[in-house]
Amino acid sequence: MVQQRPLPADFLIGCATAAHQVEGGIDNDWMRWARDDPARIADGSDASVACDHFRRHREDLRQLGAMHHNAHRFSLEWARIEPRAGCFDGAALAHYAEVLRTCHESGMEPVVTLHHFTLPRWLADNGGVLHPEAPRFFARYAAACAERLGGDVRWWITINEPTVLAFMGYLIGRWPPGEQSLPHMLAVLRALVRMHAAAVTALRRVAVRHGWTAMVSIAHQERPQRAASRASPLDHAAALLPNWVFNRWFLHCCRRGRLLPPVGAGQRVAGLRGSLDYIGVNYYTYDVTHFDLRSPRTLFARQASNPLLPRSTFDWTIDPPAMRDALLALWREFSLPLLVTENGVADTDDELRPAFITDHLNAVLDAVDDGADVRGYLHWTAWDNWEWAEGFTQRFGLIAVNRETQERLPKPSAALYAEICRAHAVPSAAAAQGAA
Ligand code: FCB
Repeated sequence: MVQQRPLPADFLIGCATAAHQVEGGIDNDWMRWARDDPARIADGSDASVACDHFRRHREDLRQLGAMHHNAHRFSLEWARIEPRAGCFDGAALAHYAEVLRTCHESGMEPVVTLHHFTLPRWLADNGGVLHPEAPRFFARYAAACAERLGGDVRWWITINEPTVLAFMGYLIGRWPPGEQSLPHMLAVLRALVRMHAAAVTALRRVAVRHGWTAMVSIAHQERPQRAASRASPLDHAAALLPNWVFNRWFLHCCRRGRLLPPVGAGQRVAGLRGSLDYIGVNYYTYDVTHFDLRSPRTLFARQASNPLLPRSTFDWTIDPPAMRDALLALWREFSLPLLVTENGVADTDDELRPAFITDHLNAVLDAVDDGADVRGYLHWTAWDNWEWAEGFTQRFGLIAVNRETQERLPKPSAALYAEICRAHAVPSAAAAQGAA
């Protein structure tokens, strides 16, 4: 008899997606980045078709509803909604209103992201997030989305993984705009904090005016940095700064209402203080961090996976108890409700995913048993999609997609996840291991 651990009442469970990775037909900075130089993408592909989800959203969402998901995270595409500065496209907003309606009709609570890595070209071509008016532009876009869609959205995310965007686009240059500059990365972090604060202010203003409830956060990527050797003070020192800058700095700025050192100098930002109603947590893995004199650009930190544990095809360490520890650490430090806004595994043949899901949901329940207020879990992701610089080479989906026909083919993990959602309970980790 398999032991079942019930999920908390009202626990949100479903999948997370992002517009550019699934919709197809979007003209934004990422589309140009991939088109201008296909060598930037592992398989030379772009997201011009992706999963064709823009056209297939109704069937797609109904399929997830039929799999008993009770929540769904997706992002609004800024480039569609505001194709020219200050000009909002009513048809694009109507499309997302229809997506929201389909979510609700399919029994899924929507979780809506305003910015998931992509920018409209009018902004990207003029400095992107470093444009001095980027916070005002982002707030204007947020207000337009809230006015049109806010009656159907309770859970908002302003920016997905601001620290990852800053790191990939401005420090190591693998993502647009391809810069490799520490000062620029720091400037981008400051800009993203200001954009977040401006958008939260706009969202809350609209919600209050209409009497709607809005829960707002960022989707924070929690990727702990562990010293490679416990005994090495240099490894500990190398892990310290990335841990603060990438895992804690943004959240503490939101708590204190200031741009904290070493990225800022304590400047106050209007609307920032108390700007998180909950913390959206994207958790995948941790890094083993070595001190390395040959890595001055990353402040002498060199990250690796854990050689002693299984790894995904992305080479990310799989260590479920680390997720419990990460959730508990955030809960104890911030006392804010947590929502797992992403967690998943790159796995070509769906060999790792079934146990990954069971073990990580058990880790979430362990954190809940230890007192953490976790409101839900959104698996990354529904469909094998276009994974940024990795193109189609990394497969995170519960559902495979035939690239020629766009046929959707649920994998064994989709059935397992559907059963968890239906039962609102998770087979205990011990039972899952016994069954393996
Ligand atoms: C996260 C991103 C998401 C996807 C997953 C694998 O960092 O938010 O878009 O790329 O990783």
